[in-house]
Amino acid sequence: MSNGKSGSIDRVGAQTLRRLDALVFDAYGTLFDVHSVTALAEATFPGRGGALSQLWRTKQLEYTWLHAAMGTYVDFDAVTAAGLRYACASLGLDADEVRIAALIAQYAKLETFAEVPDALAHLRVTHHLAILSNGTPDTLRTLVTGTGLDGVFAAVISVDSLRTFKPDMRVYRLAVDRLGIARERIGFVSSNCWDAIAAKHFGFTAFWVNRQNAPLDLHGVAPDHIVRSLEDLAPFEH
Ligand code: LAC
Repeated sequence: MSNGKSGSIDRVGAQTLRRLDALVFDAYGTLFDVHSVTALAEATFPGRGGALSQLWRTKQLEYTWLHAAMGTYVDFDAVTAAGLRYACASLGLDADEVRIAALIAQYAKLETFAEVPDALAHLRVTHHLAILSNGTPDTLRTLVTGTGLDGVFAAVISVDSLRTFKPDMRVYRLAVDRLGIARERIGFVSSNCWDAIAAKHFGFTAFWVNRQNAPLDLHGVAPDHIVRSLEDLAPFEH
């Protein structure tokens, strides 16, 4: 196990992976780069694209946590739209409906991080792969298809049937139920540290993909492994 420092990156051993039958991936920020909207945001609001993308994501996540804690629900597409509208208002950007619609449409065309297709192609040889995401079934399908990942995943699992969001523990249980694999045999992979911590709390082997070289979140158990990208999960390549 990692010692919990952000600088401590694991090269995950084949032994660790052999103890797992399935690898379940978070979608947004882990497979799909939420900040690939920055180019359009920058073209729309010159000089503000980066700030808009960052605040949009921050508010989107905050709203999911609020819904999960309050027991209310609107789907992730609606949460994403609300986060965008808030971010524009907060940054004083002139966001008419045409601009809002274009940015929201772009969110269904996110790109994968560069290493993702190859890493998944290797991992699927030895493991069942799945997505477990806050995203709606339709949008997740669009992203998977649009990025050429059709056929890679044994299951693409959305919180939508539960009408709640991560880190509600029922979300992580959904993966166990849908895959029919015990939690001890599932590795959960997320670039969102809080998501990896919640998955660890549930009983998965948790991999935090620390893409931003961020400090470890200090609220509870640490993920089992810290990696820099999905490449560190494919040790047989090195
Ligand atoms: C997801 C968010 C948390 O895909 O990134 O579930």
